[in-house]
Amino acid sequence: MRIVIIGATGHIGSWLVPRLVAEGHEVLAVSRGVRAPYHAAPEWECVERVTLDRAAAEADGSFGPAIAALRGDAVVDLLCFELTSAQQLVTALRGQVAVLVHCGTLWVHGVPRVRPYDETAPRVPFGAYGVRKAAIERYLLEEAAAGFPVTILHPGHISGPGWAPINPAGHLDRCVFDALASSEVVTLPDDGLATLQHVHADDVAQAFVLAIARRDAAVGEAFHVAAAAPVTMRAYAEAAAGWFGTTARLAYMPWESWQATVSERDAALTRDHVLHSPHASIAKAQRLLGYAPRFSAVAAARDAVAEMYPSRTLA
Ligand SMILES: NC(=O)c1ccc[n+]([C@@H]2O[C@H](COP(=O)([O-])OP(=O)(O)OC[C@H]3O[C@@H](n4cnc5c(N)ncnc54)[C@H](OP(=O)(O)O)[C@@H]3O)[C@@H](O)[C@H]2O)c1
Repeated sequence: MRIVIIGATGHIGSWLVPRLVAEGHEVLAVSRGVRAPYHAAPEWECVERVTLDRAAAEADGSFGPAIAALRGDAVVDLLCFELTSAQQLVTALRGQVAVLVHCGTLWVHGVPRVRPYDETAPRVPFGAYGVRKAAIERYLLEEAAAGFPVTILHPGHISGPGWAPINPAGHLDRCVFDALASSEVVTLPDDGLATLQHVHADDVAQAFVLAIARRDAAVGEAFHVAAAAPVTMRAYAEAAAGWFGTTARLAYMPWESWQATVSERDAALTRDHVLHSPHASIAKAQRLLGYAPRFSAVAAARDAVAEMYPSRTLA
């Protein structure tokens, strides 16, 4: 197939593009050309690079038509954060593609009422990002019901070599891993039992490949794409200490006090993760797509952390 990837050189695209090329697809990689993929792969030599600024092109209405003009059989949209962006793309692709695969987020569920939860769980998102993604999903599923071929994949926290994963305290500062590596006390918010559900970027890529290959089963559906099970902050900290050959020394502090011990940005990130505490079932993707993640949540994070400590051999 001829496949257009919008936002092709980021966390997901860096794994997805080589996978699609290896399967024999013709791939067109759309980005501004600002950043390179996270890792080199020979498959990129077979890819047609398309330089396009989505924000600028959407502003003058040319983005949708520009993507349609690439004549993809399938379009993968990794870069859609606004309802108007989805609307412009769908309008341009109507009658033109076999499938549009949109990247959503587990955050569309907001604070889950029941855990684990599947794709039928209510959408009660909070925060601008989750609210917008949920509005896009609602619109796309309405379009699907009206005959437009679209599939939505909702990843958990995407992790992989080349960028820092969400750490056991729920934020991105590597000081938490430094502390675990040197047997220093790490203090977690509340009881450390909030959950995190990482997913390796290559497992996300796997799901996108499957959504295209099995589009007969996937069109009109939304799927959770995450590690098979979440991990508590506490268990994650214990595992991460083990990578460095140490034993975690953990302390706990009520949220109100804990938040004052970190930067405003870290506190906001942790709060977001603690409130969401994802525990998304991946059974639907396993059943309909054959999705089989290679990495647990902890293993996905470990793969990222290994590259952050090149002089250490992690257990
Ligand atoms: N990160 C997570 O943990 C997470 C979790 C759940 C869902 N998601 C979803 O994952 C998707 C993001 O995927 P990702 O993490 O792979 O993305 P990413 O790493 O942020 O990469 C963004 C890609 O888009 C390109 N890009 C950025 N701005 C652009 C513009 N204005 N016009 C054209 N290209 C542009 C970038 O290349 P250039 O800079 O060269 O243009 C790059 O190829 C989003 O839909 C997000 O909601 C992410």
